[in-house]
Amino acid sequence: ANYNVDRSRGQIIDTLVEGLTKLEYRGYDSAGIGIDGENDFDENSPVREIALYRQVGKVSKLKEEIINHHPDISEMFHNHVGIAHTRWATHGGVTQANCHPQPSDDNNEFIVVHNGIITNYRELKTFLKGEGFTFRSDTDTEVIAKLFKYYYDKDQDLEFYQLAKEVLYQLQGSYGLLIKSVRYPNEMIATRKGSPLLIGVKTEQKLKVDFVDVEFINDDVKDSSSNGAIRTHPPKNTMAIRKSESRAILPDFSKPIEFFVSSDASAVVEHTKKVLFLEDDDIAHIDNGELHIHRARRSASTSTTRPVHTLEMQLAEIMKGGFDHFMLKEIFEQPDSTFNTMRGRINFNKKTVTLGGVKDYLITIRHSRRYLMVACGTSYHSCMAVRPLFEELTGIPVTVELASDFLDRAPPVFRDDTCLFVSQSGETADSMQALRYCKSAGALNLGIVNTVGSSISRETDCGVHINAGPEIGVASTKAYTSQFIALVMLALQISSNVIDNRARAEEIINGLKDIPAMIGKVLSKKAHIKEICHEYLTGKESMLVIGRGYQYASALEGALKIKEISYIHAEGVQAGELKHGVLALVDENMPIIAFATRDSLSPKVNSAIQQVTARDGRPVIICSEGEKMIDKSKTSAIIEVPTTVDCLQGLVNIIPLQMMGYYLSVEAGNNPDRPRNLAKSVTVE
Ligand code: G6P
Repeated sequence: ANYNVDRSRGQIIDTLVEGLTKLEYRGYDSAGIGIDGENDFDENSPVREIALYRQVGKVSKLKEEIINHHPDISEMFHNHVGIAHTRWATHGGVTQANCHPQPSDDNNEFIVVHNGIITNYRELKTFLKGEGFTFRSDTDTEVIAKLFKYYYDKDQDLEFYQLAKEVLYQLQGSYGLLIKSVRYPNEMIATRKGSPLLIGVKTEQKLKVDFVDVEFINDDVKDSSSNGAIRTHPPKNTMAIRKSESRAILPDFSKPIEFFVSSDASAVVEHTKKVLFLEDDDIAHIDNGELHIHRARRSASTSTTRPVHTLEMQLAEIMKGGFDHFMLKEIFEQPDSTFNTMRGRINFNKKTVTLGGVKDYLITIRHSRRYLMVACGTSYHSCMAVRPLFEELTGIPVTVELASDFLDRAPPVFRDDTCLFVSQSGETADSMQALRYCKSAGALNLGIVNTVGSSISRETDCGVHINAGPEIGVASTKAYTSQFIALVMLALQISSNVIDNRARAEEIINGLKDIPAMIGKVLSKKAHIKEICHEYLTGKESMLVIGRGYQYASALEGALKIKEISYIHAEGVQAGELKHGVLALVDENMPIIAFATRDSLSPKVNSAIQQVTARDGRPVIICSEGEKMIDKSKTSAIIEVPTTVDCLQGLVNIIPLQMMGYYLSVEAGNNPDRPRNLAKSVTVE
């Protein structure tokens, strides 16, 4: 947004497109911008129409699209607001209609860009359809644009931020939102809940205030319970928490000022280093060169000012959110990404799971003769991790296949098989080929995919998006934990008709609720884990990772994490198989990592550990907090982790191994984000 400063349309487009380019590293599938167009909105108003440019694919393609439309790029604006977005599909495939900005109607009266997920969008869509709105996209975001129009048409005297309050009151889920409207020319709303948003301020002048007061007004609304799709306000709360004149950042309207709003400082830092960070439920209203912050609802913990910070980080650092590598960032994102996988799908009060993408196929899935899980790499390990639970809950045999081996054998597949294709990218060639093979056999095909609109998600009959967010590091981390959870949820939903499973299902659902916090607890041990790597594992040529039962998959995935980025040979060993060969490798020099968290197999795991220690092996042991059964004098180190339900323990146990892979890679001088010879998405056979 620029005020009192002349900017050509070309400069505005360049600023927006370059900002999007800075966000490309996050992964996206389409892009769009909304700016003032060349014609008046209608004959009675001198206000410009809004021009939308949206394109599937790269930001560079979007720029081409704009140039092809030949807007007069030399036209000057003294005041102007434009918004832009790169989309990484969560609801609806990768199509132009699903790109943001999402318009309220064909006249683009209100346009919205949105990061996040609106969990009650179906109910809102039904309500708005009943009010005569026609939907043009499959996105959850479109309901937001239409709600703006709905409330505006009801009361045209509302200020833009008051209108935003009405809309936000109806939204459940997470969002970082920017809204522009022909009804509020040269104004913008920026608001967030659960998704980041910051505002950069650029001006030649000294800022008159170095913070913005947050305005609490006396009609703050309290949450009320949902009443149908549209929630009705409770009686207005007449007790103000605090009433203040919000202090604008630069009340002098005559001076040039520009605001750069972004979910990520990387798009802002080239323009200004002065930024303020919005908090959940803040509604920033940018209007006539002023910035005011209002509250969507009251919350006791809200601070009353938003200070202006000076960014000191370098651009590259910011893109990684302050982490040295994407992989580390992704490891540390797991408390959030695992939660996002469950969001809107598990009702923790009623102890139910609903996966919208498979519910219409449940009868066929339940009547299958067999479940065939097919995947590669880390995705294969997530299938291995959940196979025992699938078998236990469904009582149906489960085969887990490496896609390449499956294709080599071309085994019999039947019409009454359900085939599950698990893939982060949804593009892995071997998995795709296997899917086509199963399709030709007439089986029901189900995708568990991170990337919406990918080949596997398009070609399967039904499926589950794991919603982990884009994964950039080649070594998969957050996709693994989210695939694991998606498969657990699927097993729970398939078996929800089995009354005998009720207690077990409730135990698992309760366990899932605590997983994000447990992962956070393990992440807080990073100094200890780094130290263990440095002391016992760095520079070794080879190591063994041992586990059994639910932890066999952890051993396989843990070994993969170590070998693929540290280049130390690591082998995942099923503890029961030690005595059939691997034990020959064990002596005082062989580094060993063993999973020994408590479950029904603990006695067997302990005897495997004794087989190792009796041969002078000194393993690093991952065990339950407070574990007394392990003779610590015969170990190199202990990593204690929180205990959860046996079938979920792998979600917690894999975290130290992900961190070990990372620290060993960095100590070896490698770039963990780009391991030699490997690709993130292997689209060749
Ligand atoms: C490559 C990646 C791995 C990934 C595997 C399967 O090997 O480096 O991280 O696990 O492909 O990929 P997919 O996208 O199908 O999960």
